[in-house]
Amino acid sequence: MLSAFWCHLLSAIKLYLLGLKVLLLQLLNGPLRLPVMPRQDGNVAIVTGGGRGIGYEVARHLVRLGAHVIIAENVITSMKEDVLLFLEFKKLDLASLQSVRQFAQSFRERDLPLNILVNNAGVMLVPEGRTEDGFEQHFGVNYLGHFLLTWLLLDTLKDSGKSGHVSRVVNVSSSAHCIGQIRLNDLNSRQSYSSHAAYCQSKLAQVLFSFHLHQEMQSGGFQVSSCAVDPGMVDTALYRHLWTPLHRAQSVIARLLFRVKHGSAFSVVSQL
Ligand SMILES: NC(=O)c1ccc[n+]([C@@H]2O[C@H](COP(=O)([O-])OP(=O)(O)OC[C@H]3O[C@@H](n4cnc5c(N)ncnc54)[C@H](OP(=O)(O)O)[C@@H]3O)[C@@H](O)[C@H]2O)c1
Repeated sequence: MLSAFWCHLLSAIKLYLLGLKVLLLQLLNGPLRLPVMPRQDGNVAIVTGGGRGIGYEVARHLVRLGAHVIIAENVITSMKEDVLLFLEFKKLDLASLQSVRQFAQSFRERDLPLNILVNNAGVMLVPEGRTEDGFEQHFGVNYLGHFLLTWLLLDTLKDSGKSGHVSRVVNVSSSAHCIGQIRLNDLNSRQSYSSHAAYCQSKLAQVLFSFHLHQEMQSGGFQVSSCAVDPGMVDTALYRHLWTPLHRAQSVIARLLFRVKHGSAFSVVSQL
């Protein structure tokens, strides 16, 4: 019991120290500048969790570059001010494998190409909970849901990459993967739950999947690439589950020192 407490405390301390390091590096490196990006006219992109935060800014960048963007979001909110011709909102709950299957199936039925898949949606430090299929929330939403989505859309990605253009899978990960551990004997944190360790584990799983997929696609000769990208520390609602006093401090620090959403979206879009 006591050792579980120390393990949880250690996971939290490690994550906050890492956050401090990332923030310092971010400040030293200065603001991000978006390189000149190739036009994406005629390309189709799916951005998960694109209803707000980093995902929404990524979707907007892609639309400006000429892509047809499908925002796959959990709760479809009212259409934002920029309801552009090439921006669609579709329902996808990554905490439900059935919802992932339905989304993929309805996308495939449209016979559209898929040139860009941005696996962006995520949860962080949520209280202990299970997805519809009984998986730990971070593991289920951040990793498993995206894994299944990518798997179900892989043939479409491969087909779309045939004409000399590489289809891309971009996994929005986090530097938290560096301190993550895959707990093979307790993937779903049933023996003991630490929200900090669970977030780091899910992000490590996402990075490992991303690299493995890339290797598989290269060795199979497919025109599909996969990468993981850390957007840095960005002022979004992701931090809302921090312990209340920390959240208050974080809100002030975030306004002053964190990246703004559209700036961090550069790091994601620059992977295309
Ligand atoms: N912000 C940072 O400092 C930071 C740092 C490193 C990495 N990241 C990563 O960046 C990504 C985007 O985060 P953000 O900062 O933009 O956070 P955010 O503003 O909280 O956005 C997260 C998005 O994920 C969606 N989402 C959550 N649960 C979902 C589910 N079950 N099914 C479908 N969509 C779901 C949310 O939709 P709802 O609104 O419907 O819940 C929301 O659109 C995450 O993967 C995060 O881990 C962020």
